[in-house]
Amino acid sequence: MEHNKLKPFPKDFLWGSASAAYQVEGAWDEDGKGPSVWDEFVRIPGTTFKETNGDVAVDNYHRYKEDVALMAEQGLKAYRFSVAWSRVIPHGNGEVNEAGLKFYDNLIDELLSYGIEPVVTLYHWDIPQGLQDEYGGWESRKVVEDFTTYAALLFERFNGRVKYWVTLNEQNVFISHGYKLAYHPPGVSDDKRMFAANHNANLANASAIAKFRELGTSGKIGPSFAYGPSYSIDANPANVLASENSEEFNAHFWMDVYTWGEYPTATWNWLEEHGLAPEILPGDTELLKKGKPDFMGVNYYRSMTHAFNGKDGVGSGKMNTTGEKGTSEETGVPGLYKNTNNPYLEKTNWDWDIDPTGLRIGLRRITNRYKLPIMITENGLGEYDSLTEDHKIHDEYRIEYIRAHALAIQEAITDGVEMLGYCTWSFTDLLSWLNGYQKRYGFVYVDRDENDEKELKRYKKDSFYWYKKTIEANGANLVEEQGK
Ligand code: BG6
Repeated sequence: MEHNKLKPFPKDFLWGSASAAYQVEGAWDEDGKGPSVWDEFVRIPGTTFKETNGDVAVDNYHRYKEDVALMAEQGLKAYRFSVAWSRVIPHGNGEVNEAGLKFYDNLIDELLSYGIEPVVTLYHWDIPQGLQDEYGGWESRKVVEDFTTYAALLFERFNGRVKYWVTLNEQNVFISHGYKLAYHPPGVSDDKRMFAANHNANLANASAIAKFRELGTSGKIGPSFAYGPSYSIDANPANVLASENSEEFNAHFWMDVYTWGEYPTATWNWLEEHGLAPEILPGDTELLKKGKPDFMGVNYYRSMTHAFNGKDGVGSGKMNTTGEKGTSEETGVPGLYKNTNNPYLEKTNWDWDIDPTGLRIGLRRITNRYKLPIMITENGLGEYDSLTEDHKIHDEYRIEYIRAHALAIQEAITDGVEMLGYCTWSFTDLLSWLNGYQKRYGFVYVDRDENDEKELKRYKKDSFYWYKKTIEANGANLVEEQGK
């Protein structure tokens, strides 16, 4: 669809940026914080790139004022961050840690003092280790009640100051990486257990949203979903079907439940046929149906291209976590699909396809199927950056990536998609869970590496200034710049 003229971004469009507690805060055991599963997992040799961890991360816990001042200088309209559950309830249930709540109080107040809208994520993968030890974390239904109690604590504490809430960040990622690929805690590789844990996460998500409404919390709430829209490698019907399989298993399987409280039909039948369907107890479906979000949060980095994969076909393969281009292995799900190379797209050094049009396609698919407003809760480019002797970072590649994706959003708006905002990933550089500190995403360079924290000094990259200009122009510069 080619438009004669693109619509402008809405006046109140939230030009934002994002982070997550474990990836920026540090202070992993300070002021009464309990350990999360990540605090323990990273100590197991071989789990992360060069054994990196978030003990100090980029020290945002102590430097949040400096970071927020930089956001204000950039003119950011929104900042998405997550609350570390074990900072506010150290064990995950029971005793509340006032010092932990105070940290987030201060951060929110600091943002508001500059007119920056806080977007608060309740859960970005760091379940308290206490709950993992007590009952197996997401594998027990007990997590539904504990997550809801934790969510209610934050709703009541921050009500009125926070208008945008995100429930679970990338449930599809923390569940698949935690219980199938074993890349994330608890490092399990068992499909049956994965689907059971996923069902509990669905219930927890719905229960938190139901609680939000019951308490009369002001504002909007929704999950953040990691969506990689699928293409078929070609017009061969077997490949087209494989791509459909991926859409159903990797997208509808979560977003249908969020929106309608129902699992998609073909997927559910396949799970039953393979003895993998989670147990649905009386009341589950009613609860799931109470969890309809106000918006769909979308984390978009890349599209996926799929081909036929027979029952004896390829399974999970190694991911590229080193930044050596071309080292990812072929992956797939036997009997459903396999990921394959898209010859039309450039890749990053971590082998992620760069595809702004895929974002527009994804936004339209979500709009057509779910009829919900959308907030991009993450989008960005993880790359190597270099700091020059005079402390500059010339990241033209990041500017190009963000410009092209922002333009795809403007095109989607013109198509009719209702967009609330765009949070890039990330504001400062931060810890990339499995890829260490060398894979950088920020507008602000943080001078540290895998082994040496140095002084953690902040330097503004070229992309910092470009985004500032874009915010000032409310995106009116995008079309003109793309034409250059
Ligand atoms: C998302 C996560 O999956 O992608 C972030 O929500 C993460 O926490 C981001 O950092 C980029 O992924 P990676 O693996 O490059 O850090």
